[in-house]
Amino acid sequence: MSESAQFQVNSSLKGEDVDAINRDFYGRFNYPWLPMLLPTAPDPAFWPKLTCQEFGDFTHQAIRPDARIWVAGCGTNQAALTALRFPGATVLGTDVSTRSLEACQSIIDQTGISNLTLEQASLNEPRHFEAFDYVICTGVIHHNANPELPLQTLSKALRPDGVLELMVYNYYHRMHTTAYQKAIRLLGGSPDRPDITTELPLTHDMIAGFNGGSTMQAFLAEQQDLPEAAVADSLLQPVEYSYTVATLNQLAERCGLALHHPVFNQFDKLSGNSSWQTELPPTVAARFAALDDVSRWQVTNLLMMEKSPMLWFYLRPNQRPRQTEAEVNAAFLDTVFIKTNACAPNYILSAESTYSRSDFQPPLAQPPLPVNPSARAVFEAHDPSQPIGAAFARAGVDHTNITDLRRQLTTPAFPYLVAKS
Ligand SMILES: C[S@@+](CC[C@H](N)C(=O)[O-])C[C@H]1O[C@@H](n2cnc3c(N)ncnc32)[C@H](O)[C@@H]1O
Repeated sequence: MSESAQFQVNSSLKGEDVDAINRDFYGRFNYPWLPMLLPTAPDPAFWPKLTCQEFGDFTHQAIRPDARIWVAGCGTNQAALTALRFPGATVLGTDVSTRSLEACQSIIDQTGISNLTLEQASLNEPRHFEAFDYVICTGVIHHNANPELPLQTLSKALRPDGVLELMVYNYYHRMHTTAYQKAIRLLGGSPDRPDITTELPLTHDMIAGFNGGSTMQAFLAEQQDLPEAAVADSLLQPVEYSYTVATLNQLAERCGLALHHPVFNQFDKLSGNSSWQTELPPTVAARFAALDDVSRWQVTNLLMMEKSPMLWFYLRPNQRPRQTEAEVNAAFLDTVFIKTNACAPNYILSAESTYSRSDFQPPLAQPPLPVNPSARAVFEAHDPSQPIGAAFARAGVDHTNITDLRRQLTTPAFPYLVAKS
């Protein structure tokens, strides 16, 4: 049995059963709920360039402004958010849930998005072949009967030079949720098939009154003030697999894909658990530094456990050469960047749950200057006529944490610097 199969909810269900269960579940609980802001782009090349930089493409070739993008398992708003960020691209959003697609269509109607098509379809049935430059699939495949099937579908849909942005659950983040889901299924009297009608009221009672004294008690108490969709997504998921870096890497290889580089996502940015480096005694640190990228990430995953970053990565077809993190860092130091100073308007959610465009154009880099003192020193020492390596030297910042500094200056989560074309 593979490691990923050891702790999961409901491995016995068939693919088509799980599609039907997911359709019902996401029909009942709209996930995710409406965001307060829908950011736009200052120009069609802005977000494609920042995205390319995160996986080491400082020439911005892999995702062009007019890319073909697929948001697979798009839920209620991810396809709309993507179409707004990539206004020159042609975007397809698909999901099994009719209700999620209706919610997304309503955003399209309110914002006039014209580069997005929505379709109801399951990832368990491949329909696209070498068709997309960029595929985004976050929080989806681990809810399927056999996650390898939807990942094969995504792999087949990528162009040979394409990029997949994939997020699956981190095993160490899902210990409480998976344990709770298994327990409530037994308590609800339906261990083999979720029965939300029974499990939801029981869950409200558990959140209000479970006094077991374990970390589960604290975890359930944290759910108290969350929206029902968030509670359901955490505690009542019908099917849930979780992974470590190593088991995700094995899954990727079976699907003809390779892990390229981690994505600095908004959740890790908020929690502060974004670094794949870990503090180690000097004797151990040298061994850590000598490992290949995937092994290093796995060590961080194993040692940092619940504080390790999410398993959110860029993957590419594995017949394509992969740049190591060290190679990306070297290319970064040799690249000439310009400060973006970019601003763009948002669509803002009203109390009536409708969106309207605001005239205010906030800076896209938030906060406007890097918080990390070393990243800030490099940013302030930066001279747009020289490679960024010169700014490290001028600021007296060594290269010890270069991966984290690069990520905190040049990625979509920190859009401070864009490479000169
Ligand atoms: C947790 S939500 C994530 C939504 C979105 N990707 C995001 O990150 O905001 C999972 C979504 O995947 C969809 N989904 C699950 N299995 C699917 C499948 N086999 N094909 C298409 N959509 C699927 C669900 O209907 C749901 O909308």
